[in-house]
Amino acid sequence: MEIVLSGIRPTGNLHLGNYFGAIKNFVKMQEENQCFFFIADYHSLTTHPKPGDLHGNVKQVLAEYLATGLDPEKATLYVQSDLPEIAELYLILNMNAYMGELERVTTFKEKARKQPENVNAGLLTYPSLMAADILIHKAHKVPVGKDQEQHLEMTRTFARRFNRMYQEDFFPIPQAYNFGADLVKVPGLDGSGKMGKSEGEGNAIFLVDDPSVIRKKVMRAVSDAGPSEPNQQKPEPIENLFSLLKIVSAPEVVGFFDQQYNQCAIRYGDLKKQLAEDVIAFTDPIRKRILEIAADEAYISKVARLGAEKARESAAKTVKEVREIIGFRPF
Ligand code: ADP
Ligand code: TRP
Repeated sequence: MEIVLSGIRPTGNLHLGNYFGAIKNFVKMQEENQCFFFIADYHSLTTHPKPGDLHGNVKQVLAEYLATGLDPEKATLYVQSDLPEIAELYLILNMNAYMGELERVTTFKEKARKQPENVNAGLLTYPSLMAADILIHKAHKVPVGKDQEQHLEMTRTFARRFNRMYQEDFFPIPQAYNFGADLVKVPGLDGSGKMGKSEGEGNAIFLVDDPSVIRKKVMRAVSDAGPSEPNQQKPEPIENLFSLLKIVSAPEVVGFFDQQYNQCAIRYGDLKKQLAEDVIAFTDPIRKRILEIAADEAYISKVARLGAEKARESAAKTVKEVREIIGFRPF
């Protein structure tokens, strides 16, 4: 049986990018595999060192996970900081992680540029903490979006290095995973780049957004003056709108607007209206479940406690074996 693992930082509400990049694949996998899904609250300190309401955010994200269909009976859902074993494996992996390779990671360079006043060691060693998350349960598959590819590559490097250094075939080499083969990148509404909670206002559609908010955001999405000749290549903002349409709408709908575009007859207002309604049809049942689950604090606490217990069992086993392999001995 394969071990599948994924995680998300509790720095904001879940958006369509999180869902279609990571969670959707995970929800499918939980049926047949041993699955772990966790909230990366240690990781969130790399960018949010003084989180306003860390516990509240964690609870909210947990409610959102549950609302998307993650089943605590099938998968193990837990909070990263409930597993001190992760911190120990992180420390050990850091001993064999090199400055040069960490400094070359794209997300590190980006974050260092975005927060020059706080280029902390946690930011630099983000990939070794992520590797610890994955290797602690000896995961084989990691459903994530395209932006996490490089972090996964680092995890493989650290796993291979550990196996080689201590001459044990210990850690499996984990793969980024998506059913459709290619990793997914959901674009944002601002005309460039990916949907993300830390991009600009109005870029992301959150699963908890009200229908009226979604309509407003989609109608304001960046477009252009329209094509001037038939079958013209679509510029990025338009390509992005079509990508979103492909994710939530029926193929006939995509085909219709594609044809309109190619004949220079497209009306972006119509496309956006359709896109907004199709997004709402998808998000609204989830939004209602989020509200229900978030109101049930006792249930959320129960899920987190049960998850921590199950996850710690697996984590403690790995750390014990790692200690033995390296040569730490109890007196
Ligand atoms: P954000 O980018 O909003 O801060 P995270 O970095 O916490 O979100 O990402 C959590 C998960 O969601 C990761 O697996 C990531 O690959 C996926 N993800 C986030 N944004 C997108 C996107 N726009 N397209 C595809 N996957 C995404
Ligand atoms: N780095 C991931 C992100 O920003 C979150 C994450 C932390 C993660 N540890 C992980 C994802 C382990 C998958 C597996 O999206």
